Amino acid sequence: MGSVSYEVENRVAVVTVENPPVNALSHDVRSGLSETFARFEADNDADIAVILGAGRMFICGADISEFGKPPQSPSLPNVITHIEACTKPVVAAMHGMALGGGLEVALGAHYRMALPGTRLGLPEVKLGIMPGAGGTQRLPRLVGVDKALEMITSGTPVTADAAIGFGLVDHLGEGSDIRAAALAYARSLLADNAPARPTKDLPAAKADDAIAVWRAKLKKTVRGEVAPLTAVDAVEASTKNTFFDGLAEERRLFLHLMDTPQRAGLIHAFFAERAVAKLPEIDGIAAREVEKIGVVGGGTMGAGIATSAVLSGLAVALVERDSAAADKARKTIADNLDAAVKRGKLSAQRRDAILQDALKTVTDYDALSGADLVIEAVFESMDVKKDVFARLDATLAKGAILATNTSYLDVNEIAGSTSRPEDVIGLHFFSPAHIMKLLEVVVADKTAPDVVATAFSLAKKLGKTAVRAGVCDGFIGNRILSRYRTAADHMILDGASPYQIDKAMTDFGFAMGPYQVSDLAGLDIGYATRQRKAADAHPRDRNPSFADALYHKGWLGQKTGRGYYIYDQGDRKGRPDPEVERIVDQARADAGITPRTFTDDEIVRRYMAAMVNEGACVVDEGIAQRPLDVDVVFLYGYGFPRWRGGPMKYADMTGLDAILADIRSYAEEDDHFWSPSPLLEKLVAEGRAFDSLNQR
Ligand code: 3HC
Ligand code: NAI
Repeated sequence: MGSVSYEVENRVAVVTVENPPVNALSHDVRSGLSETFARFEADNDADIAVILGAGRMFICGADISEFGKPPQSPSLPNVITHIEACTKPVVAAMHGMALGGGLEVALGAHYRMALPGTRLGLPEVKLGIMPGAGGTQRLPRLVGVDKALEMITSGTPVTADAAIGFGLVDHLGEGSDIRAAALAYARSLLADNAPARPTKDLPAAKADDAIAVWRAKLKKTVRGEVAPLTAVDAVEASTKNTFFDGLAEERRLFLHLMDTPQRAGLIHAFFAERAVAKLPEIDGIAAREVEKIGVVGGGTMGAGIATSAVLSGLAVALVERDSAAADKARKTIADNLDAAVKRGKLSAQRRDAILQDALKTVTDYDALSGADLVIEAVFESMDVKKDVFARLDATLAKGAILATNTSYLDVNEIAGSTSRPEDVIGLHFFSPAHIMKLLEVVVADKTAPDVVATAFSLAKKLGKTAVRAGVCDGFIGNRILSRYRTAADHMILDGASPYQIDKAMTDFGFAMGPYQVSDLAGLDIGYATRQRKAADAHPRDRNPSFADALYHKGWLGQKTGRGYYIYDQGDRKGRPDPEVERIVDQARADAGITPRTFTDDEIVRRYMAAMVNEGACVVDEGIAQRPLDVDVVFLYGYGFPRWRGGPMKYADMTGLDAILADIRSYAEEDDHFWSPSPLLEKLVAEGRAFDSLNQR
């Protein structure tokens, strides 16, 4: 029976699922469970069965790698129905985690026990599906509609300690040995003559107002995602139907979700975020030890990076230019920690200990002498950076890593200014650095492989998702951003309004539109970028003079209460500004442009064509290793809708030929800005998708 074992100890049948690493319910496991429970039913030596997971956890769901392939019998719903139909009691004994189909197995058991701290959840909506093995029918019967909807539509796990309070768990075991705890509980149930107790026989939960309340709430928050609202339909079915009719309706809705592009997008995201760390260049390479971190510069980024590091248990020495700046950095970090305490992420005691022992804010580079890795986050100027790196080179011990958080500067040039370019790397954090999950690891020509490995291991410690990038202006994310942002500016010059573009892109699923993002980041950042690139400007580059006009008026976005939008006191959403429309009209008149209308569809197509085309160039040049690396950068750093899988997955699902045809038609109007990526042309000619490059 392969991954499911059966043994009887003192009249208790112990059924163990062993399918590392997460005991997923692959075909082998489903068959094993079916056969094992048939055996248990017939076994006169066993009066009760316990189901356990081997290793770190119980069972963490269906085998996602089987999704999209032809289903193989027995199906999980049938296996669970079979377990539930046992005439002798069955106990699910959970430890570590019980997720998705794993928790559904437990719902089909007659009793549920867990070790304290075990996390129980139905995360299916995060994969674009919903529980499809009875979860939407059994959970409401056990815990009521409201709690069931909270768990199913959020996908967020609860702890066993909380679950015992609302009826999902019957018993909390003692100690850390799940097998011993399970046997003890089974024996106590036997001693009490506890009967088989199928969840399906409980009365259907009352629908009350919860269904309508959750539906209304989700309609406002899901931003185009279909799975959470479909899950509400399934839970509603549990309140209106017999158990088996409800189960059939759940299956119908589940199979419908399985066929959606959203499911394909979210599963791609799941595997892509795990694949980014799998790089041949660091395979088998040991990371250097990192316990003490240095940060140089304690402004927006330095303070955020230091916060992230101390929150992850690292000791940090932060060096600033003078004591006033050092004190200001300390205050920012303390405020960040206070916010973490308020959100319940950190205890007040731990915050105090960090400020007392783990964080030093100083002006003297000597404080960095014992650091294993130093991250520079000073002004974006090559001269200032070279000066800092010269000091770091003189101060740090051999083997220490020198990292820069530069957004655009040449990491090779920075590395070349030191005596140890092999120890230099770019660690490009995103703002706010203690919140944003993305870290671009910028590998320079001479960076040593174990320095790259250390960067990936540090990212893990910091709870970040690291993506390898090569050296170029803007690396992966900002380089692509600069192209689609320019395409958006062109659309404004030609007749679209910033508000229409923002709405089209948020309707597409982005967290914010490009002009809302500009207002949040500050219009001075875009202005500085245009100034920086001015020297390399081409005569055919189109000038978004409206953006400069806003800057010169001092309308820098949210921080000045006015940018593309007007922000009334206390409002962070902003409202459209007729004055901005007049400034844009003037910019068009100055450039001799007769404005035309754009449909939302055209806006999305142009915006995405620019993003995908530059994404293809970035892959072609080796700046990103694979298309999936571009996807992860956009999912974690740029608010790209996860259910679309990332820009390259979106392109595959739209069809590369359609995207290339769009680019070619735009190039007929403006062949200076629009020029198809050779990689995109090659893939279309060969009838291949970007995904074919993810396998390498
Ligand atoms: N199926 C197949 N492979 C899975 C898997 C699953 N359900 N869950 C994890 N894996 C794989 C990962 O891809 C990874 O493979 P790799 O080593 O080749 O990269 C490996 O297992 C280890 O996974 P993690 O690196 O994520 O391990 P962690 O210890 O960090 O996390 C976890 C463990 C929290 C269980 C996490 O893996 C996870 O969230 N898994 C998905 C859980 C889930 O969504 N379950 C629901 C599935 S859908 C379902 O059950 C449908 C049902 O209702 C019918
Ligand atoms: P900032 O202006 O907020 O902070 C820079 C800090 O460096 C200041 O506090 C300044 O006093 C200090 N500093 C300057 N010279 C110094 C020196 N020689 N020694 C010690 N401290 C010194 O700038 P910000 O936004 O934090 O940016 C820092 C770096 O991070 C830049 O390279 C920037 O391009 C990059 N970056 C910025 C992002 C952002 O969104 N702000 C995002 C990602 C990277």
